[in-house]
Amino acid sequence: MEIEPFVVIHPETGEVMKVMNAKIADPKLAEAGRLRIEWAESRMPVLMALKKKHQESKPLRGMRIAGCLHVTKETAVLVRALRAAGAEVSWSGCNPLSTQDDVAAALADDGVSIYAWHGMNVDEFYWCIRKTLEMKPTLTLDDGADLIFTVHKEAPQLAADILGGTEETTTGVHRLRAMAADGALRYPVIAVNDAETKWDFDNVYGTGQSSIDGILRATSVLLAGKHFVVAGYGHCGRGVAMRARGMGAQVIVTEVKPTAALKATLEGFNVMTMDEAAHIGDIFITATGMKDVIVKRHFESMKNGAIVCNTGHYDCEINLEQLAALSDRSREVRPNNREHVLAGGRSIYVLADGRLVNLAAAEGHPSEVMDMSFANQFMSMLRLAREGRDLEKKVYDIPPAQDEEIARVKLETMAIAIDRLTPEQVKYATDYSAGT
Ligand SMILES: NC(=O)c1ccc[n+]([C@@H]2O[C@H](COP(=O)([O-])OP(=O)(O)OC[C@H]3O[C@@H](n4cnc5c(N)ncnc54)[C@H](O)[C@@H]3O)[C@@H](O)[C@H]2O)c1
Repeated sequence: MEIEPFVVIHPETGEVMKVMNAKIADPKLAEAGRLRIEWAESRMPVLMALKKKHQESKPLRGMRIAGCLHVTKETAVLVRALRAAGAEVSWSGCNPLSTQDDVAAALADDGVSIYAWHGMNVDEFYWCIRKTLEMKPTLTLDDGADLIFTVHKEAPQLAADILGGTEETTTGVHRLRAMAADGALRYPVIAVNDAETKWDFDNVYGTGQSSIDGILRATSVLLAGKHFVVAGYGHCGRGVAMRARGMGAQVIVTEVKPTAALKATLEGFNVMTMDEAAHIGDIFITATGMKDVIVKRHFESMKNGAIVCNTGHYDCEINLEQLAALSDRSREVRPNNREHVLAGGRSIYVLADGRLVNLAAAEGHPSEVMDMSFANQFMSMLRLAREGRDLEKKVYDIPPAQDEEIARVKLETMAIAIDRLTPEQVKYATDYSAGT
């Protein structure tokens, strides 16, 4: 398919005012987008400090970064920082429903090459990714690995000039590690997701708060007293379960991993199988990164009025094809909330078409938490620009020193001081000759 880049035409004279190297929903939203981005900047002190530190020396000069990551106000702060450090950037969203159109308009207006709009279809989604590859990137930045997969599948010749890439989320990192193990990875990747200052904060507190935010915006229901089923008690699931409990819900957890199920039990959650939970739950959320977590037999035993949503990366956790086959009809009852009426008259409500509810129905993670995730992205881009040529074609972890540094600066910006080990304490920690 071929979609023309955006041409802005003067409403009265009909004159072509601007040809944007972009395809977005509406350039008139740029001012609203700028306000949103400025708000996020005021909440992201670590990334802003990195931007300030590197805007003179421009360590990313000569770098062409193709990015495929949710187009939110926080992402825009990252894009601005990368450009300030000298990079040329071309961007697409990593989910058809997560683009904030005003933010995309603001970035396009600032001259960023961006291909993203809310509500695109799957063909358009991949068209956008391909457009960003036209710049022949030297670095790639992914959330879910769709960009890197597109390079490998459709444009492997580009890999020779790519110094490295980064990956933002759990699902993407799992797949890239599998590729590296098979010897199929064509350039080094840094697993930003696996930084402690990412997964232990963004996945937990970010997904926890923003998924509840998405559910509330799409339903406006009372959580207190509801049976709230969380599938998956990993980082994201734990965050959602904690926040739902905090709002008075009776939280049930389903798991496949014994240690995770045990943790949830000892945290005081009710753990059971999805088969058992299906007929008890009022609200269901999947956070597993796995397909077919909620399927036909679960829909068949759900209560009338049950609400179902997902916060895992892909929209395969809830089997919506099977729900459609069980449904007589469906209609959108509120934005991001579709009622499916089953044969027999029961209704099941699906939020955000089974896509990430926090990004599709709300605004994604709060800026404060993305501050640390994107500081990791920024520092990883600097590292790849500097050392990418010398790295192997495998998946690298974030160096622990980077985690420490980001956490330290974050604490400073929160005016929180912590103790330091004395030299005697450091010695004590490694002194194997000391007894009781
Ligand atoms: N919504 C967001 O903004 C956001 C943010 C970060 C990560 N993610 C995505 O959320 C998903 C989960 O990420 P995570 O960091 O929590 O991963 P994780 O590996 O820490 O946790 C996933 C958990 O799900 C469990 N699980 C797997 N299959 C299951 C099944 N069939 N039933 C019940 N439990 C099952 C696993 O045992 C594991 O404990 C991934 O797809 C990730 O990419 C989304």
